[in-house]
This record gives sequence, C-alpha cells and structure tokens, in this order.
Amino acid sequence: MVGSDKPSIIVFPGVYPPSEDTYLLLDALDIRQEDVFLEVGCGAGLITLTAARQTQNVVSVDSSFEAVHNTLENLKRFDLSNNCQIIESDLLGALAPSTKFSMIVFNPPYLPQDDEHTTLDHALIGGQTGTELTQRFVRQAAEHLLREGRVFVVVSNLSNVDSIRETMIACGFMIDTVAEESLFFEKIQVLRGILKEDHKETVL
Ligand SMILES: C[S@@+](CC[C@H](N)C(=O)[O-])C[C@H]1O[C@@H](n2cnc3c(N)ncnc32)[C@H](O)[C@@H]1O
Repeated sequence: MVGSDKPSIIVFPGVYPPSEDTYLLLDALDIRQEDVFLEVGCGAGLITLTAARQTQNVVSVDSSFEAVHNTLENLKRFDLSNNCQIIESDLLGALAPSTKFSMIVFNPPYLPQDDEHTTLDHALIGGQTGTELTQRFVRQAAEHLLREGRVFVVVSNLSNVDSIRETMIACGFMIDTVAEESLFFEKIQVLRGILKEDHKETVL
C-alpha cells in the first residue's frame, strides 16, 4: 500500500509513476457517487482507480498507448474495469461533442520545454512555456462539462499560472485554489474551476 487508503498499483515502463502531484490532486478531489467523471492523462491509473471505487460512471483518456494499457491492467487487478471506459486520445479529442461530465480532472505535463530529453517527456513537458497543453485542455473541458461541473487541474509556478487562470476565466470558470505544496524546486497547486455559463467572456 502507498499510504493507508491508496491502492498499490503496478507501473509499466515509460509510464509516469504516482508522484507528489498525483497525491496532491487525488487528496483534493471531492468525488460524489452521482458524478460522471473524466480523467485526462490517466498514466498508471491511480486516480481513475480511486474514482471507479466511488462512482460507476468513469471515463479515462491518455495519449500514451502504454498508459491506457497500464490503467486497464490496474482496474482489472481491482475488479473495477466494468465501471470505467479507457480510451487512447489526445486530450478530449476522441469523445463525441455531446458527451458531458460533472467532473473532469487532469494532472498535466506542466514543465516548459528545455534541451534535456527523457522517455517521460510526454508526461512532463506541457509545451514551450509549459502551459500550452493545459490551456488547450481547459478550453476542451469547458465544452464537455455540465453546468456547475467541476474541473480540477494541477499547475506549477515553473510555468505561467496566470495565463492558465485567464484562460479558465475566459471559458466561464469560477476558480479556487484547493490544494498546494512546496517542493524543493517548485510550488504546485490544484486549481478547481466551476463552470458558470453566465461568466463566460468573449474570446477574440
Ligand atoms: C504527469 S502525468 C500524470 C499521470 C497520472 N494522472 C498521475 O497523476 O499520476 C501526465 C499524463 O498525461 C498524459 N498526456 C500527455 N499529453 C496528453 C494529451 N495530449 N492527451 C492526453 N493525455 C496526455 C501523459 O501520457 C501522462 O500519462
């Protein structure tokens, strides 16, 4: 077991292992039995697995084939695969436009591009400034959330958090910081956005 209530999962080579940001996000989530839940970037599947224990309506996506198979394997080990659909997808791109969720979560790659390359770049690098992928995610999530739906996303002060907040506000989200942790080289936060259609601003 990792901690007292967190299931012990297997992690395939090339898949992001549960880390401080995973646990910070997991502990910040208020998953309800009636939630229709989407995890973007499920990695090894710890958050998806935890959601599938609490609601039967879980969809998970990842752009990595290995991550999709890793999550499926962990769901099977805990006999939870019936509660969950796992899809290989670039963000929410593979979902039908009419598919709506009450809760969407993402622990994204959020580091800026640099000259170092590793086999985990797909899980770590969020674009030139570190924010591009998260901003694209926020725009797509707003289109797939029910009114009053919640989005939870991890951000780091190593990237431009203000630009992510601005994108969330422009998409109609009311934002709170629901968790934060200082690590030795960065501060990470979990932002929660609640979709309020009447707050949507015109994005030119
Ligand atoms: C930091 S890891 C988080 C993994 C897991 N959710 C966790 O918290 O431990 C980011 C995950 O996002 C996935 N990812 C990166 N770009 C993506 C994209 N465009 N669409 C979907 N998933 C993506 C990566 O493959 C990786 O599994």
